[in-house]
Formats: sequence, structure tokens, C-alpha cells
Amino acid sequence: MLEITGLTHSYSGDHGVLDGLDLTVADGELLSIVGPSGCGKSTLLRCIAGLVQPTSGKLVLNDKPINGVPDDLAVVFQDYSRSLFPWLTVRDNVALPLRRRGKSRAERRAAAQEALESVGLEDAGKKYPWQLSGGMQQRVSIARALAYRPSLLLMDEPFGSVDAQTREDLEDLVLKVHRDAKMTILLVTHDIDESVYIGDRVVVLNRSPARVHADLPVDLPLDRDQIETRALPDFIHLRAEVGRLVRGGATIPGAAPATGKGADKETDDPVTKAEAGDEPVAKAAVKSKGEETSVGAAGKDGSKTDS
Ligand SMILES: Nc1ncnc2c1ncn2[C@@H]1O[C@H](COP(=O)(O)OP(=O)(O)O)[C@@H](O)[C@H]1O
Ligand SMILES: [Mg+2]
Repeated sequence: MLEITGLTHSYSGDHGVLDGLDLTVADGELLSIVGPSGCGKSTLLRCIAGLVQPTSGKLVLNDKPINGVPDDLAVVFQDYSRSLFPWLTVRDNVALPLRRRGKSRAERRAAAQEALESVGLEDAGKKYPWQLSGGMQQRVSIARALAYRPSLLLMDEPFGSVDAQTREDLEDLVLKVHRDAKMTILLVTHDIDESVYIGDRVVVLNRSPARVHADLPVDLPLDRDQIETRALPDFIHLRAEVGRLVRGGATIPGAAPATGKGADKETDDPVTKAEAGDEPVAKAAVKSKGEETSVGAAGKDGSKTDS
């Protein structure tokens, strides 16, 4: 069980990113996390991964406070391009963390090959990451995390740069692995349909400083099907609800202005006004990207997945 209480974080001298966030995730749960861009989703995952020391608050995993990277954790970073070792083949990248599992070389290779097959990259094992497209590299990071069979898997917008068909296949793969291996998964996504399709529960964060804005159970049949599940009235209802909550908590750059009461409130909010302008948004994106870079590197050296 993961228990987060009063999680608060500000990057040095900056405004708060997380503000007293409370969240509990049961063992074996698949939790989708959505929220406006820049609200602190990646920061939340970095705190859980022990890569960012929060300003205050408590993070407890299986009754132990999180200090540093927890055992038995795998992370699929948003910036996949920096999470693979360029000097190792694709297969060796996937096989490397399995050393921690005490597997023989032959077992590691077989498990890596199987994971690569599951993401449709059975022929790429001997290539190097830099010989693959961005979407393929992302699938390698996913294969590496899945092959490790962690008890806790954190995925930060893991399907961001794959095509629609592959994305659906990967969603179904995560659902299958989740069911077979009974791991706890936290998946951050900006795709509202995906959050409902894949989740046992959807948590919506509000605009920075973030807290849990809404926590919605997904009461859909456990066996999900890309066509049938998405056509269910319950699915359509829930995705509309999540969409409304995400938009209600933020002004999304480029989105049509919200209407009604909430819209007036938002336009009057100086923070929202600033964020809606081109320049501050561009700055935030640059900052965020810089952080991805450094965390990607930290993950490589410090995370249990890679070392
Ligand atoms: N290392 C950092 N230093 C300062 N500000 C940061 C850093 N990393 C992220 N931020 C800022 O924190 C906020 C939340 O970022 P992030 O957690 O990446 O949001 P999300 O993943 O929801 O898009 C953003 O305003 C971002 O610019
Ligand atoms: Mg992010």
C-alpha cells in the first residue's frame, strides 16, 4: 500500500507545485492520474520514486517511509530518449536490471527477448537505441520496466510518442501484465479516454499547486476491449466527467475558453491569466524539460530499474 499524506513541494524559490496532496493506492491497483499540463504530475511521481525530496508531507510504501528509491520499483520516464544506455544493445538494455533478480545470463536474455516481443520489437534486440525511432525507444523502456516485474510501476505519459494503433496495443499489454503479475501501477496520462480505459480508478489533479481534485472509481468490466469498452454508456459518461473536471481545474493553453460561471472565475485569476499567455507557458515548458533531463539521468544512475 502506498500512502501519501500532506505532500507539499516547491522547487527552490519557486511557487508551490504540490500542496498538501493526500492519496492512498492499494496493492495491485492500476491508478490513472490526469491533470492540466504543468500541474505537478511528474513531480508527484518523482517524489514517489524517491528522486525528489518533498518540501513536506509523508510518503509511506508498504509501511516504510520513502527515503531514496524504493526497492522493487520501475519507472517509465516521460523523457524516454534519455533513459536508455546508448552503448548497450536494445536487448542488453532490457536485460540489465534483471541482474538484480539474480537471474542467469541466459534467463535474462530470454526474459528480455520475451518483453521485446510483447511490445512488437522482437527483431530490434541487436540494434542500439539510437538506431530506433522515438516511438520504438519508448517501447524499449516499457519492455524493460515490464520485464523487471516490479511490485510498483510508475509510468509518466508512457505512450506519448507512439502511433494510435501501437498505443492501443500497449494499453492492452499494460492491462494484461497488470492482471498477470498483480503489480501496482500509477500511470500519468494526458489522454482522458486512456485514463478511463486503463484505470481501476482515475485521480484528477487540479492546477498547480496540485491536490487531488477528484477521485473516481472506474466501474467498468475488468476485461477491457478497445472497441466494446469505449462504446459502453458508463465509459462515455465517465470520460465526459473526467474531461469536465480536468478543464474545470485549469485553463488549458490553446483550448477554447470555458463558458459559464467557472470561466469568469478563471479569467479573473491572475495565475491563470499569466499561464494562458504564450510566454509564461513557453518558459514553464522549458523548465519542465530541463528537469526531465536531469531526472532521466538521475534515474539512470540511481533507480533500481537501471542500475
Ligand atoms: N526542476 C525544476 N525546477 C523548477 N521548476 C520545476 C522543475 N521541474 C518542474 N518544475 C515546474 O513545476 C511545475 C510542475 O511540473 P511537472 O511536475 O513537470 O508538471 P506536469 O508533469 O503535470 O506537466 C511546472 O510549473 C514546472 O515548470
Ligand atoms: Mg509531466
